[in-house]
Amino acid sequence: MKIRLRPIRADERLMVDVDGEAAGFVSYLKGRYGIRGDYYEIGCALLPAYWGRGIGWRAQALLTAYVFDHWPVQRVQAGTQPENVAERKALLKAGFREEGVIRASEFQAGQWRDGVLFSRLRDDPYPELSN
Ligand SMILES: CC(C)(COP(=O)(O)OP(=O)(O)OC[C@H]1O[C@@H](n2cnc3c(N)ncnc32)[C@H](O)[C@@H]1OP(=O)(O)O)[C@@H](O)C(=O)NCCC(=O)NCCS
Repeated sequence: MKIRLRPIRADERLMVDVDGEAAGFVSYLKGRYGIRGDYYEIGCALLPAYWGRGIGWRAQALLTAYVFDHWPVQRVQAGTQPENVAERKALLKAGFREEGVIRASEFQAGQWRDGVLFSRLRDDPYPELSN
């Protein structure tokens, strides 16, 4: 299986290409802490047929490498819902560390929900994609 990220006609998104088929997309959005603390926040959404096949964590590892290659930021972060076990595990496999709970970070189905924040720093170990 060959996983690649391909440009699409949308800012800050790349298509996840699996053996020549569109499997979903990844996104990257710039943010800033303080005066010079630029970072990127990434996201990933695959079509259901591609879930649980080792694509999500690899796509997010590839995207993180892409961000560090193209911008002089020190930090890439990603948030997810506490119950999204697949994304939490995918981020850990992609070399991210869990940082903590973001309280009341999104309003969904009529209520405020907590999130969990993960990050990878430029000098953190790069995961082996062939594992
Ligand atoms: C979340 C998502 C990107 C994860 O990608 P994926 O390709 O399905 O996950 P992977 O196959 O890379 O698996 C990564 C890890 O999660 C585990 N995992 C995958 N699906 C799982 C599930 N439904 N429940 C529990 N663990 C799961 C895998 O076993 C693997 O861990 P392991 O190696 O320790 O066993 C993908 O499922 C998806 O697009 N879901 C819908 C959109 C979404 O939730 N996006 C994130 C929004 S914050």
